[in-house]
Amino acid sequence: MLPRMRRVALLGATGSIGRQAIEVVAAHPDLELCALQSGSTSLEALAAEHRVQHVQVGGDAVGLLERSEPDVVLNAVVGFAGVGATLWALEHGVTLALANKESLVAAGELAIRARRRGEGLLLPVDSEHSALWQCLEGRDPETVAGLVLTASGGPFRGRSRAELTDATAADALAHPTWNMGPKITVDSATLANKGLELIEAHWLFALPYQRIEVVVHPTSVVHALARFRDGALLAHVGLPDMRVPISYALTYPDRAATPVPQLDLVGLDLSFEAPDLDAFPLLALARACGERGGTAPCAFNAANEVAVEAFLAARIGFLEIAAIVEETLSRVDGAAARDLDDLMAADAEARRLAARGLQPA
Ligand SMILES: NC(=O)c1ccc[n+]([C@@H]2O[C@H](COP(=O)([O-])OP(=O)(O)OC[C@H]3O[C@@H](n4cnc5c(N)ncnc54)[C@H](OP(=O)(O)O)[C@@H]3O)[C@@H](O)[C@H]2O)c1
Repeated sequence: MLPRMRRVALLGATGSIGRQAIEVVAAHPDLELCALQSGSTSLEALAAEHRVQHVQVGGDAVGLLERSEPDVVLNAVVGFAGVGATLWALEHGVTLALANKESLVAAGELAIRARRRGEGLLLPVDSEHSALWQCLEGRDPETVAGLVLTASGGPFRGRSRAELTDATAADALAHPTWNMGPKITVDSATLANKGLELIEAHWLFALPYQRIEVVVHPTSVVHALARFRDGALLAHVGLPDMRVPISYALTYPDRAATPVPQLDLVGLDLSFEAPDLDAFPLLALARACGERGGTAPCAFNAANEVAVEAFLAARIGFLEIAAIVEETLSRVDGAAARDLDDLMAADAEARRLAARGLQPA
């Protein structure tokens, strides 16, 4: 049981995470929805069904958050559009359950500074980061040697670069282990998603990039591992089902029951392999952007969003996604953002450059 009713503002309510979050909230007597936001989908029926007073379609989430006075903001918006809500929650010390990794990637430094001022909780919903948070909680940071993020490898695991030339959006959307929105599914196919997660882990757990590894683990049952200085590793293991990390973030520090079945350990495939950085160059590029710092990760994210949208619309091929991001990164200055205005300018400039890369030569 939670000490009292917890009011949840759900941003990205109509998406894959949003729908699963509604299920989690509906099943818990001490959680209630106080606000809903979508990008363009109507929220009328959802709001009526769940008796939610504050709703907003599109636009800036800040007004909605101020009106609805949530205890927790669950940011499940896709893309850079989630950045305002992330910064608002952190600045105001309102607990932030964060699925929208792009906001932390783009605004990492601003977000960490806002959290320091707001002194609120930043609880990861991304399954790997939720796993790491649980492996690390209560540990002395001095004892942590490194972090390991696992990647399913996506639908194209094992294919060479040459074999990816003709990969279509339909091929990329057929993810082997997770059922997610289209943007993150394509990001999983290119491994850009793991690159975004690498940067997200850097900001969440304050570790340098060289101490964060990525390994491919096709069955997705080991969500992440933490390495300790004595040689021990702690792993977080379970069925790949986002209701588990959503529920943990919304009911923390309690651990509410979920309808997710227990994992059968007999015959479990726990194999790991190195990622193929030649076929999937966006992972190494994200690491380089993280190390470069400033607004390089913001530009990486923006160019990737533009390229993924073009790929989903069949305007470019699969391999062009990485080519556009790389080209964009070679043209931006990557200077650090002092505030949200600087960040929005860096995001807009990277989008402009990436869009230029979409034009036929
Ligand atoms: N899906 C997963 O299993 C999973 C796992 C880990 C992390 N995540 C992260 O969670 C986030 C959401 O992923 P998803 O798979 O749930 O995406 P999704 O299914 O595409 O849903 C995206 C949600 O964001 C809303 N949205 C889009 N643009 C918006 C805008 N400008 N302002 C406000 N809302 C906007 C959409 O509304 P409309 O319906 O109106 O378009 C929708 O509700 C992403 O950052 C993703 O990386 C997802």
